[in-house]
Amino acid sequence: EKGGYDTFMEKEIHEQPRAVADTLLGRTDADGDLVLDELHIPVEDLRAVTKIVIVACGTASYAGMVAKYAIERWTRIPVEVELAHEFRYRDPVVDERTLVVSISQSGETMDTLMAVRHAKELGARTVSICNTHGSTIPRESDAVLYTHAGPEIAVASTKAFLAQITASYILGLYLSALRGESYGRSAAEVMAELQGIPDHIEALLGTMDRVEEIAHFMADSRSVLFLGRHVGYPVAMEGALKLKELAYIHAEGFAAGELKHGPIALIEPGQPVFIVVPSPDSEHGLHGKVVSNIQEIRARGARTLVIAEEGDEDVVPFADEVIRVPRTSPLLAPLLTVVPLQVFALHLSTAKGLDVDQPRNLAKSVTVE
Ligand code: M6R
Repeated sequence: EKGGYDTFMEKEIHEQPRAVADTLLGRTDADGDLVLDELHIPVEDLRAVTKIVIVACGTASYAGMVAKYAIERWTRIPVEVELAHEFRYRDPVVDERTLVVSISQSGETMDTLMAVRHAKELGARTVSICNTHGSTIPRESDAVLYTHAGPEIAVASTKAFLAQITASYILGLYLSALRGESYGRSAAEVMAELQGIPDHIEALLGTMDRVEEIAHFMADSRSVLFLGRHVGYPVAMEGALKLKELAYIHAEGFAAGELKHGPIALIEPGQPVFIVVPSPDSEHGLHGKVVSNIQEIRARGARTLVIAEEGDEDVVPFADEVIRVPRTSPLLAPLLTVVPLQVFALHLSTAKGLDVDQPRNLAKSVTVE
């Protein structure tokens, strides 16, 4: 049942190319235009949306944070991302013109379900991005966009995360087309690039031996930090969550721009830090800013584990390790940069002899508060 792998998590990591490909499947017509027949919300209502609020917990919330960058870019609709348990006990500014998008692998997370109910009471339109057919959250939402990752058994979410990003990108591109927004590329172009992502993930998975070795060397680590910027910021948070869950190591993800506002005080000789480097093609010079951050923490003795695109040589002088990912446009990078972090957490957990699929104290779906 584990398809030759030792754990479900490892199997599911290797199913990621398929999870992305299947989530893209059947959502474009012959011209590459998006068709979302499943979105049973009147087109006029979708055109009238003035705000999107994404509600989710854990890994799904990080998929939502990634999606915010892309959806705002493509639709010019303001997007907020909120943890479902915070949203449900607030008095959020939500009305009929708000689209509340919930993201949940299981479709049964109690807090996310309650957030959806709360949104409906306030008159919002609700869309669920969900991996489990017929589960409660999609049943109670106005519309559902299923992720086709297949059943995810390991408690730590991997392939569902990639499928959630993919589905939320499809939603963003669809809304953008519907509203006639332009952002320098057509939806068909972005979809075509997304179609190429599964092969990139496959290639990347074939290069993970060094990450496995690093994980084994690091089995005694007490704390690992993760830095990222823009879409790399939620990827850093996700890398930290994977490590907490699977290896019971203190781990924290930061926005690289925050370093000087506090976290840099944590850097002492030997402190391992993963840095998710933005693509050199990123706007606003973000790549150079993160390279400077790597330089700054290295100067204070950090052990820098750098995730960077193939061909990015600027990082080399300041990196103790460089983990390469294939080139993509900046917004699609999270579908690749998170993979080494998943593999790292998996192997660190294995190196410590822990139960990869069933970490202590955790349940696959949290159906209580
Ligand atoms: O089923 P859901 O996507 O609603 O679950 C949300 C979180 O409980 C889940 O992502 C959790 O954070 C995972 N264990 C992360 O690996």
